[in-house]
Amino acid sequence: MPERLAETIVALWTPLIILWITLPTCVYMAPMNQAYTLSTGSPLELGRQSEELRILNRSKRGWVWNQMFVLEEFSGPEPILVGRLHTDLDPGSKKIKYILSGDGAGTIFQINDITGDIHAIKRLDREEKAEYTLTAQAVDWETNKPLEPPSEFIIKVQDINDNAPEFLNGPYHATVPEMSILGTSVTNVTATDADDPVYGNSAKLVYSILEGQPYFSIEPETAIIKTALPNMDREAKEEYLVVIQAKDMGGHSGGLSGTTTLTVTLTDVNDNPPKFAQSLYHFSVPEDVVLGTAIGRVKANDQDIGENAQSSYDIIDGDGTALFEITSDAQAQDGVIRLRKPLDFETKKSYTLKVEAANIHIDPRFSGRGPFKDTATVKIVVEDADEPPVFSSPTYLLEVHENAALNSVIGQVTARDPDITSSPIRFSIDRHTDLERQFNINADDGKITLATPLDRELSVWHNITIIATEIRNHSQISRVPVAIKVLDVNDNAPEFAAEYEAFLCENGKPGQVIQTVSAMDKDDPKNGHYFLYSLLPEMVNNPNFTIKKNEDNSLSILAKHNGFNRQKQEVYLLPIVISDSGNPPLSSTSTLTIRVCGCSNDGVVQSCNVEAYVLPIGLSMGALIAILACIILLLVIVVLFVTLRRHKNEPLIIKDDEDVRENIIRYDDEGGGEEDTEAFDIATLQNPDGINGFLPHDRRGLLRGIPENDA
Ligand SMILES: *[C@@H]1O[C@H](CO)[C@@H](O)[C@H](O)[C@H]1NC(C)=O
Ligand SMILES: *[C@@H]1O[C@H](CO)[C@@H](O)[C@H](O)[C@H]1NC(C)=O
Repeated sequence: MPERLAETIVALWTPLIILWITLPTCVYMAPMNQAYTLSTGSPLELGRQSEELRILNRSKRGWVWNQMFVLEEFSGPEPILVGRLHTDLDPGSKKIKYILSGDGAGTIFQINDITGDIHAIKRLDREEKAEYTLTAQAVDWETNKPLEPPSEFIIKVQDINDNAPEFLNGPYHATVPEMSILGTSVTNVTATDADDPVYGNSAKLVYSILEGQPYFSIEPETAIIKTALPNMDREAKEEYLVVIQAKDMGGHSGGLSGTTTLTVTLTDVNDNPPKFAQSLYHFSVPEDVVLGTAIGRVKANDQDIGENAQSSYDIIDGDGTALFEITSDAQAQDGVIRLRKPLDFETKKSYTLKVEAANIHIDPRFSGRGPFKDTATVKIVVEDADEPPVFSSPTYLLEVHENAALNSVIGQVTARDPDITSSPIRFSIDRHTDLERQFNINADDGKITLATPLDRELSVWHNITIIATEIRNHSQISRVPVAIKVLDVNDNAPEFAAEYEAFLCENGKPGQVIQTVSAMDKDDPKNGHYFLYSLLPEMVNNPNFTIKKNEDNSLSILAKHNGFNRQKQEVYLLPIVISDSGNPPLSSTSTLTIRVCGCSNDGVVQSCNVEAYVLPIGLSMGALIAILACIILLLVIVVLFVTLRRHKNEPLIIKDDEDVRENIIRYDDEGGGEEDTEAFDIATLQNPDGINGFLPHDRRGLLRGIPENDA
């Protein structure tokens, strides 16, 4: 088989043959040498040759061997011979010249134009440029005419192991939790080798650990670093330096190597419980300390860090659990004991607490190591403080009847000094709260007395502040609010709730309700008001009107008959006695004015003797004075006139005198005289509210009764 192939090659590769020459210095690279030696042949070499053959078959006029190889990094005294160009054309008949062109022709590669020898005249670096494409041609020596078409070939630069592995990303850092099991993967590193990875072992790397044993191991091929010891303890040693080596040539001696460092930091896990620095803490606190004040701090140390060191603090036992609380300060990782309820030295002078610190983030893997908590005892001593007086009650509510006698005691406050050296106390009233000096207080016993009379109808509440001062230390002061409520006594008689004016229709029927009135009373009886109404005893049999009490405490006034006539009588006055239900009851008489009016058939009031009362409508005081002035002026003129007439004509006097009197009487009628004062009150004219009321003014009050009893 090899022989047959060789024959084929010889038959095909005419007329030009490139011979490949290997340098003796590269002999150790056995595969390369053999692969391109034609005469010898092993199955492996032939495989490569047949590859070459296929390429050559494709070219019509093939160069024999269109690949040459040259070792990189060669630096001998002479240029290295890469190969030789040769043609089978008859060398005798024509002189042949070889020409080389393409990558590096003339600069890197030089050809001997007679022999066809190609030399590399420069040192080559595969990692810089791995192959060069060149063109060869055979021409006539004299004519320079091409004897063959040009052919392309490649010079490949052959790798030697001239690059050491490199860790491009080093130095490395990695973390692994402490207490990890053996073989836990930490990280992996990668080195690179610039040499040809597909050819030879120049880039075949093997990793090993130079430093960092016995803690870590590395997988030679994958460079995965793993823990080599179980349960490494961060609290013992936190950081490890690992030196890693990568070696090429598969780790064999003679290979190149590179190293890097890897710093492995153990991360914390909660493998340590908290532990109080002291088993017993002593604190002291003044009894008057403000609630919420920090009394002391306790700290349980934890060798772990971060959240694994976090503990929550609790009071789990002791005689002060209700008075004290402990809060966890996450920042300082300690527990702050604070006061929750007031202390009293005089009641209890010391407390004992049992406090506990417990890790918040427990790792179940280590919970078997025992409880991740610790306890300590806290003793708190209460110190005495000079305290202000304490009233027997935080507020007082006193009640007093409005008719209480002056200087009568209406209540008492008491206070005491809570300190052991109990000081006597003096009481006083904060006068800012009792500006009217309504009350007094006995400085020694705290009894409050009435200084000025009370009136519930003026003020129901008197809210004052009482001050207690320690006699031995005037700076120890307490204040207490005292609300004094004035209780009602029936000291006001009921009266009409409003100023009523009633109208009675001339054409009304007997029994018609003329007016409904209601009453009011300034007092405030507990069960509400209940009023009794009656007519004056002498009016009980009034032929004209009667009264009827309604369910809602009001009163209706009814006409007893019809046929009222304003010509006959315009106005009726009806005094009504109103009585309250106090004990004893008080009563008063209010008079209702009933005016007779002309009404339409459906009972709408139309005129109430308008003629007589139209004059004062809308008249101001000024207008009235003007009218009066006119009247006086007229009178003066008349008197003057009469006097003159009497002087001139005596007999006429008597006759004229009567005329004058008649005139005067007429004026009287119009302006309102002595007899009219009952019918219209001058006060109505003065009162602006009365201007619109052309009707007579209510006479209520003129007949008002006097309270029967003031008590
Ligand atoms: C006085 O105190 C009482 C009871 O606290 C309260 O109801 C009342 O409104 C107070 N009055 C005034 C005027 O402050
Ligand atoms: C009743 O009315 C008549 C006239 O209508 C009057 O004369 C009499 O005085 C009135 N009686 C009372 C008590 O008002």
